[in-house]
Amino acid sequence: MLFTSYRLGSLVLPNRIVMPPMTRSRAGRGNVPTALMAEYYAQGASAGLIVSEGTQISQQGQGYAWTPGIHTPEQVAGWHGVTNAVHAAGGRIFAQLWHVGRVSHVSLQPDCAAPVSSSPLVANGVKVFIDLEGKGPQSGVGQTVQHSAPRALSAAEIAQVVEDFAAAARNALNAGFDGLELHGANGYLINQFIDSRANTRTDRYGGSLPNRLRFLREVTEAVVAVAGSERVGVRLAPLTTLQGAVDDTPQATYLGAAKMLNNIGVAYLHIAEADWDDAPDMPAAFKEALRLIYDGTLIYAGKYTVERAEAALCNGWADLIGFGRPFVANPDLPARLRHGRALAAPAPQYFFGGAATGYTTYPRSPHTSTSEDMPCANMTAFGERIRR
Ligand SMILES: Cc1cc2nc3c(=O)[nH]c(=O)nc-3n(C[C@H](O)[C@H](O)[C@H](O)COP(=O)(O)O)c2cc1C
Repeated sequence: MLFTSYRLGSLVLPNRIVMPPMTRSRAGRGNVPTALMAEYYAQGASAGLIVSEGTQISQQGQGYAWTPGIHTPEQVAGWHGVTNAVHAAGGRIFAQLWHVGRVSHVSLQPDCAAPVSSSPLVANGVKVFIDLEGKGPQSGVGQTVQHSAPRALSAAEIAQVVEDFAAAARNALNAGFDGLELHGANGYLINQFIDSRANTRTDRYGGSLPNRLRFLREVTEAVVAVAGSERVGVRLAPLTTLQGAVDDTPQATYLGAAKMLNNIGVAYLHIAEADWDDAPDMPAAFKEALRLIYDGTLIYAGKYTVERAEAALCNGWADLIGFGRPFVANPDLPARLRHGRALAAPAPQYFFGGAATGYTTYPRSPHTSTSEDMPCANMTAFGERIRR
């Protein structure tokens, strides 16, 4: 099923392969997307859908050196170069809207202020990458430091961050993106409200599950008001403990989030199932429960192979599959997967920062044979029910 087309809102995706969001830390001065970034994203245009790297919605939302923003006119113009290149190459691209919350450093914050979070909690050992000397991404050399201690946002400031998300959504549409993905995963600001151990608030944004989901709800509703529900997806990471965000009852919490997002009617949920190696396996029963609670499109990412992807699609709990690191080294990944060609291995030293090497220099493989789409085999009872 991986190579069959799929309708996502008004978009027709030619296959079910997603290039998921991947920070590559190569933005230019002023965190403006560059021509090199446009070339990189255009190389991935054969994906059914590209989701851009995390893109900060405000200066306060930045947590690492050289990540692109979407809050200044220059950044919007830079992104327009990217979306034009992707569309010219036949692709589709959503913007991942990102606020890192506490996972930042004073040197990246306006007026060197403390970063903000739901709560004044430090995640010990959680590091960020900074460029104090202003060397730029080409140097590929920065400093890795403990994130700075955050302060809790006031209710009035939360309303401002919600507005920043909405403004970023307007900017992203003006930059030509086909839609928006809210980064609610991997321990960043939205996740710092959701997860019980990252949120010690006693006001209406903390405590009970509806309270911990309130910030996600308000951001989602604000962005849906800008873009329409068909063009908004949300990324969640139920079981990862990245950046120190841990929830005591993840199944209850994230089924609650899925139900709430279903009521809003967002286009997709993007589940970061495992990030690199951080996360226990997600039980099949949890995935099936998500499918039953949420009516929209479900995307999963995390260490997928063709075989695991086909099983996920056939067994009914996934509609689209993200392949992260495989895309880094194989810009023509869909063709390679379809024809069973060998995959190149990515070079991690070029993941974050640097120039073209290890970014736009991975070759395409020569096109030779064609093959048929794989039929479903060995479906589970749940898959039979959903797919037939
Ligand atoms: C270099 C790199 C940067 C990433 N940056 C982001 C990001 O900006 N936003 C996000 O939600 N996930 C990010 N991820 C996680 C990926 O989207 C994906 O979930 C993860 O790599 C697992 O998929 P894989 O095993 O196919 O690589 C990043 C992953 C990599 C390898």
